[in-house]
Amino acid sequence: MAAIHPVFNHSTPTRQLHIITWGCQMNVYDSNRMIDLLRPLGYSVTPKAENADVLILNTCHIRDKATEKVFSELGRLKLIKELRLQNGYSTLIAVAGCVAQAEGKIILERAPYVDIILGPQTYHKLPKMILESSKKSGNIIEIDFPVESKFDFLPSTSEAPGQSAFLTIQEGCDKFCSYCVVPYTRGAEESRPVQAILDEAKHLCQLGVKEITLLGQNVNAYHGEGPQGSTWNLAKLIEKLSLIPNLLRIRYTTSHPKDMEDSLIEAHRDLPTLMPFVHLPVQSGSDKILKAMNRGHTSDDYRRLIDKLKRHKPDIALSSDFIVGHPGESVPDFQATIKLIEDIKFAQSFSFKYSPRPGTTAALSKNQISETEKDSRLKELQALLNDQQTQFNQQTIHKTLPVLFTHRGRKPKQIVGKSPFLQAVHITTDQNLIGQEKNVRIDECLTFSLSGSLV
Ligand code: 5AD
Ligand code: SF4
Repeated sequence: MAAIHPVFNHSTPTRQLHIITWGCQMNVYDSNRMIDLLRPLGYSVTPKAENADVLILNTCHIRDKATEKVFSELGRLKLIKELRLQNGYSTLIAVAGCVAQAEGKIILERAPYVDIILGPQTYHKLPKMILESSKKSGNIIEIDFPVESKFDFLPSTSEAPGQSAFLTIQEGCDKFCSYCVVPYTRGAEESRPVQAILDEAKHLCQLGVKEITLLGQNVNAYHGEGPQGSTWNLAKLIEKLSLIPNLLRIRYTTSHPKDMEDSLIEAHRDLPTLMPFVHLPVQSGSDKILKAMNRGHTSDDYRRLIDKLKRHKPDIALSSDFIVGHPGESVPDFQATIKLIEDIKFAQSFSFKYSPRPGTTAALSKNQISETEKDSRLKELQALLNDQQTQFNQQTIHKTLPVLFTHRGRKPKQIVGKSPFLQAVHITTDQNLIGQEKNVRIDECLTFSLSGSLV
């Protein structure tokens, strides 16, 4: 039997699309945009890869064996593609995201059954690529950085994304930290125009969204085109967004300490919709390592910045990323990171073992740290960060916090939401409060969440 190609398969009312997303929140946003792009072509999302006419792997290249993970998943998808073909259905496999950008040609050599390779800046061309792929044999690859901005080609979301949504406002990075692939995979820093962001935010709120997290690799470096040729920074954009009726909460991530302008710190003091939480990665507490990382600030600069934030917003919760075992990191360097964490006290954090990334300067260094040493440093660091997270959560016991409820919990009558400090909070109630913000008294602190009761 001839295989039925997804695009021309009219025997089923809709075509099925399955996306596997790895990595950061921006990849989650991108995957949702790809769904929006394919919906007008009749595609709906299926949770089962076996049912999908189009399978998309949206990949991440930031750390560890990223490429190997992609090949192992592709092996599984290849079997699904073969099985479906035996049943008369063709399947299209697309690899998107940062691994596609960095290793696209290698993927096609090693996995020729992949039909489409597209980078993070070219996924607006996905519908055209699917159509082309259906007409000709061979693979299609789109990983050049295009002159046009993909944002100009993305349709607006038509399905309600829930109570809490991501909105990419800035992308790419010009900072070239020694260890990081982002400037190579996502390209140069680019900020979206103010009006496009306002339109998207208003549209999301019309669909029922109550909380928006503004995304960017360097979100606080945002400098988008405003009205009459002006340039707006993040504080000004947030101020404008905070006027949208029904938008209860605004967050932003990820920030760079060097771009933390006074106006943004003041916005935390002045705007009640801007949540009292900042993810501000410091990576290391050692000045020697910060310099080797090309971070452009010292550990004291970071401490001063945190002091300023706390002066303006005393209850602000802090979060950071840490890398242990960057090339050249000595035991005293690592201890300087521990000291910085002890001094500042984080509400939550992400921490990683340094992973050499192809094409980055740190990967070429002769002073690599052994895996065993990295393992033991990471263990020590994470124990401290976990303690601090527990302490932070425990401080909220018996306090009343506004919680925005977003989904049902696993237990009967349980609903789950977020505190302003990004803590998961669950309560048991008969009422349907999803999408609403309610005051909750915190009764108990569990490992990764809080439980409470309605006030
Ligand atoms: N190795 C380990 N961690 C890394 N990160 C980025 N690149 C690497 C790498 N090569 C971490 C940084 C960054 C976060 C998103 O990922 O801490 O802030
Ligand atoms: Fe990577 Fe550094 Fe840019 Fe962050 S600031 S995306 S760590 S290069």
